[in-house]
Order: sequence, then structure tokens, then C-alpha cells
Amino acid sequence: MSRLGTETAFEVLAKARALEAKGRDIVHLEIGEPDFDTPPSIVAAGVAALERGETHYTPSAGVIELREAIAAYLRARRGVSVDPAQVIVTPGAKPVMFYALLALLDNGDEAIYPDPGFPIYSSMIHFSGARGVPLPLRERNDFQPDLDELRRLVTDRTKVLVLNSPNNPTGAVLSLDAIREIARIARERDLWVLTDEIYGELVYDGEHRSIAREEGMSERTILLDGFSKTFAMTGWRLGYGVFPKPLVDPVTKLVTNSVSCTATFVQRAGAAALSTRPPEVDRMVAEFRTRRDAIVKGLGAVPGVSCRSPHGAFYVFPNITALGLRNSADAADRILDEAGVATLAGTCFGSEGEGYLRLSYANSLPNLEKAVSRIADWASRLAPLPTGR
Ligand SMILES: Cc1ncc(COP(=O)(O)O)c(C=O)c1O
Repeated sequence: MSRLGTETAFEVLAKARALEAKGRDIVHLEIGEPDFDTPPSIVAAGVAALERGETHYTPSAGVIELREAIAAYLRARRGVSVDPAQVIVTPGAKPVMFYALLALLDNGDEAIYPDPGFPIYSSMIHFSGARGVPLPLRERNDFQPDLDELRRLVTDRTKVLVLNSPNNPTGAVLSLDAIREIARIARERDLWVLTDEIYGELVYDGEHRSIAREEGMSERTILLDGFSKTFAMTGWRLGYGVFPKPLVDPVTKLVTNSVSCTATFVQRAGAAALSTRPPEVDRMVAEFRTRRDAIVKGLGAVPGVSCRSPHGAFYVFPNITALGLRNSADAADRILDEAGVATLAGTCFGSEGEGYLRLSYANSLPNLEKAVSRIADWASRLAPLPTGR
């Protein structure tokens, strides 16, 4: 158990709620979930399934209609050719990390993961007994991986490479050149690739492209995606993995051993979400883009803060080194305590996150404006930096 990490967002949320219980007004920019409710047509499909009496177990990998709908959706929207038999439905997308990394990694193996990156990758890699090898994503490289560095990090023990595009926390979208080169490295060095595409529909500039489309990649790629972000369904817990054929039986066995199956009515709601793709989805994406532009502009005007415009997901990752604070964790604590804005330290996502904060803009425009103006006021009260810095 000592090898298992966690997701700090839930701890910060608890701390923010404790301050609220004492009467403080807090703007929540720490947690990564859409503030929109699930589109009503999806809710109705879940309710209808319950009313029809769909209250029983399903096969562990999911109902065939949903697996087919997922395969059709991925083909239509992402150009990825998928056999429904390769799709395993899970309660949320997170378990796909859990199952895939448990299935693939042994003691002594190595797995490369993005830093900064979603904290559960390194947590699960370490939990499996493997060694986690961070792949730095640096602002000066637009948070794209340095591919020469990636080549150097691959050893004879490297078994898995984790990708996440659009990336949490930086919002960076992998370039096509990077995807092609990463695919070449994976083929040459015989790596499995776990590609986390949960933000694949939330792209504002450029295009999301799955590495699963590259030649020779479908047999070594596990594609992770889900309904939490695109369809505002975090609380339903619905995700899936597309697995190369040899992994389907072992991973299905892990599902049987752990959860038996994903809730039946939730699967039915998911099938309706994919087959109808309600118009609310595009409206949410448009709203996220407006919010992104507003928060990037607002934070960019705060002296000591610089904020790139991320191309996807719903996070900004401003650089706060020029504020001259001790570290990112101290900055996030002080912004919560002194300004009433809950954010996450960049280091919640790995050591390369030092000097940054992660703010989720899955919150209303008025709340984002309030947060930015509180941070600006707070920053203006900080002691001036010594000259020469
Ligand atoms: C990069 C990334 N992958 C996966 C997940 C998990 O999504 P789910 O709620 O479907 O388990 C998240 C949630 O924040 C995420 O940020």
C-alpha cells in the first residue's frame, strides 16, 4: 500500500469545503469535472432502462450494444478501426489504467509516463511493482515531449509508454509529428502504449489524433476513454478501454474479479449518448473555449503570472515562478487561504510541475472572473521581489 499514490484534487476539495463550513466563500478551480449537468436525453435513457427492469448484471466486458456503439463512434469521430470484441466497458475511465497496468507490468519492468501528468499513472505503475520513468513536458517546448529524450529513456526493460493528449494538466495536444515519431519508437522498441484520450473531444485549436491510427499501432495500443468529460457524466462512472486482442481475456477477468460489470442502466445511458451525441455536447465545448480565452487573458494580466493558451482539455497551467514564492504547494495553499480560490500546485502532477498551478475552468464565467480578480488582488499585496530577479 505504501507504493500507492493519490489524486490531490480530492484533498484540496476537502480543505476548501472545510473553509466553506467556517463561512468562507471559495471559488472552486481545483476539481476537473464539467459544471454542466448530464444532457437530459442521456438521463432519460438511463431512467428508461431502469423502468424497463434493466436491474441485473451484464457480461463483464459490457452489453454488446454499447460495445458496438463505442466501436462505431471511434471509427466515425477518430478514424480508429475497432472490433467491438476489443472494447471493455468499465465504471469510469480510471479503472482502465488500473487494469491495463496491472495486466502488463511486473516487478523490474519500467513504464514511461508524462510529467506533469495525471497522478494515477505513476501511482499505478509503482503499485504494480514496476519502475516509473517520468517523461518531462516542458513549457519551453510547448509542453510537447522531447523525442530525443524519450528515445534515451527507453531501455530494454521498458514495457509501457503512457500518453495523454489533450493533456491534464497542461492542456497541450500532441502534434502529429510527435505522434508519428512516438509510434515509430514504440514499434522499434516493442512497447505497449496506453493512450488516455479522455479529453479527445475537448480540443479548441488544431486536431486530436489517436496514435491507434498509426501503422502497426492497433496491436500494441490500449485506448482509454470515457463519458465523464465529453458528456458531463462524472458521477455515473462510465468509461472504456480498447485492448489488443491478447489482452481482452485477462482484462475481462480483472473486471470479473473486481466489479463484475458496470451498472446496467449506466451502460444504456452511455449507448444513447454515443448514438445521439446530444447538441449540448458542442455547446459545452464552445463554452469551454470562451472560458479558456477569458481565464488566459485574465491571468496573463496579473503581474508575475504568465499563462499559455492551452489547445485542449479544461485546464490552464500558469507559470508563477515570477511571484517569488517558496514553491507551488505554498502558492496553492496561500491562494486558497488568503484569496479564497482553490487551485492545485503543479507538483500534484509530478516534479516538473514546480513553478506552476493548475486551474480548472470547468466553472462559470462569473466565477472565473471572480477567481482571477481575487488572485490579482492577492498577488498585488505580496511583498515586492528583491531587485535583480
Ligand atoms: C487524464 C485523465 N484521465 C482519466 C480520468 C478519469 O476519468 P473518469 O472519471 O472517467 O474515471 C481523468 C479524470 O480527471 C483524467 O484527468
